Amino acid sequence: MNAPALLDLDIRSKRYGARPILDALRLTLAPGEVVALLGPSGCGKSTLLRIAAGLDRDYTGAVSLNGEALRAPSPLAGVIFQEPRLLPWLRVAGNVCFPDRARGAAAARAAALLEEVGLHADDGARWPKHLSGGMAQRVAIARGLYTQPRLLLLDEPFSAVDAMTRMRLQDLLLTLVQAHDMAALVVTHDLDEALYLADRVVLLEPAKGAATRATSHVYAVTQPRAQRREQGADRALRARLLERLEASVKAPLAA
Ligand SMILES: Nc1ncnc2c1ncn2[C@@H]1O[C@H](COP(=O)(O)OP(=O)(O)O)[C@@H](O)[C@H]1O
Ligand SMILES: [Mg+2]
Repeated sequence: MNAPALLDLDIRSKRYGARPILDALRLTLAPGEVVALLGPSGCGKSTLLRIAAGLDRDYTGAVSLNGEALRAPSPLAGVIFQEPRLLPWLRVAGNVCFPDRARGAAAARAAALLEEVGLHADDGARWPKHLSGGMAQRVAIARGLYTQPRLLLLDEPFSAVDAMTRMRLQDLLLTLVQAHDMAALVVTHDLDEALYLADRVVLLEPAKGAATRATSHVYAVTQPRAQRREQGADRALRARLLERLEASVKAPLAA
């Protein structure tokens, strides 16, 4: 039997005003699974992630997290955005354990999380403005882990850092998911990132006109993870996805 779903998304319709954005979108995530949500800019990736995070309830359908209907942001889900969004008036440790004050057990937990994401416990005393982009994103990941989530929701989390930092952060994400038996839903517009990180890639195609909405296709990535960095992605799968991505970007222009 399959493991019970940690996240169960059943979105029948999401609109902005009269404009349909998502419909008939069904996606479940099991513990330990990494799913990449791939698609061109504007197709509804962030919209879907915000619904999964309990930040947007203006849709029809049902979303459950760990078997319970999701009605608001949950401590069971940690959310990480493209920009670290650290509070400049709090030191690093204070950001990690916000809204708790960085004292006692909260401070100890923040220090342990900083080490887990590859920083030093001492970095907790630094101010956000003194961090590099990669360090700041590590702090954002530590903050996402503070509530001991079962699920990480990441919206283009590594898009703003250099290529080497990006690879390191991708590996950090995979290590954390495994160590904590979490699931992760990662939004990206980068095909190779999707194929490196994911067990499954959900390709979201943009609406082809005002009256239609995004459609989704799911692809399993079966290539062993250990081979992915050195050998590169499964070439046949990459070619199929690339073809669909290119077609979906061109379609609105042709319409
Ligand atoms: N609050 C909003 N009100 C109206 N339209 C929105 C809003 N947020 C996003 N949109 C539109 O919905 C579509 C999907 O947006 P988004 O989910 O951010 O796409 P993606 O993350 O894939 O780039 C885009 O065309 C965007 O302009
Ligand atoms: Mg987006």
